[in-house]
Amino acid sequence: MRAPAPQRLLHITDTHLLADPSAQLRGVNVDARLQATLAAMQPWAARANGLVHTGDLVHDGSMAGYQRLRDALSRLGLPGRVMPGNHDDRAGMAQVFDQGLLRAEPTMMLGNWMVVCLDSLSDGAVEGRLSAEDLATLDQALNDTRADHLLVALHHPPVAVGTKWLDAIGLHQPEALWARLDTEPRLRGVCCGHIHHAFSGERAGVPVYATPATAAQFLAGAKDFAMDADAPPGFRWLDLHPNGRITSDVITVPG
Ligand SMILES: [Fe+2]
Repeated sequence: MRAPAPQRLLHITDTHLLADPSAQLRGVNVDARLQATLAAMQPWAARANGLVHTGDLVHDGSMAGYQRLRDALSRLGLPGRVMPGNHDDRAGMAQVFDQGLLRAEPTMMLGNWMVVCLDSLSDGAVEGRLSAEDLATLDQALNDTRADHLLVALHHPPVAVGTKWLDAIGLHQPEALWARLDTEPRLRGVCCGHIHHAFSGERAGVPVYATPATAAQFLAGAKDFAMDADAPPGFRWLDLHPNGRITSDVITVPG
């Protein structure tokens, strides 16, 4: 007998768009890399159910960047959620992603799964923080849902990823988050951005994934700040199976 079909979620992160589409950031044209990534995602999108963007949508907080990103992502034709990273402007992002397919809302249902999106932006800081209000939103989502399985998405990794300088600017005081998630029997996975390289780890058997940026990449495993100049952009697919299993991989985009 064939296993029931999973819900396929596409994960994109750290697009870092600028107001000027021809401008360069860290030696790359972020718009061109986004367009290349979206072209590679298109055939996957035809067989996917949802999309999630885990922050740093724009680099400069510009409304022009948000609008261009919304229009570009919408062409994938998938319902999705966005959440802020440390470079984002929370209010501007919420204004642009307030209706339509892609929204800045905290939850999304995919079959018997719920994706819970957390806002780890701490104004003026590079590292992430979850405020009392953010944790209350999480508590309410966990309390209200009848989903069988949960995937938590946020910008800042709540675990060490082995890249020392990035681990110093991950999620500050992750204990408050784990105090909730460690006792949540429906938690099946966590996905995040921020580190601009792929990562796959776990906490107490729960997989934790990070996905390459579409903007320039950082060098995985570096002690101090280092770019990975030749690393291509990429995205991740996650198949959320009805039995709670996750299968996932990163797709990098040929130059
Ligand atoms: Fe970023």
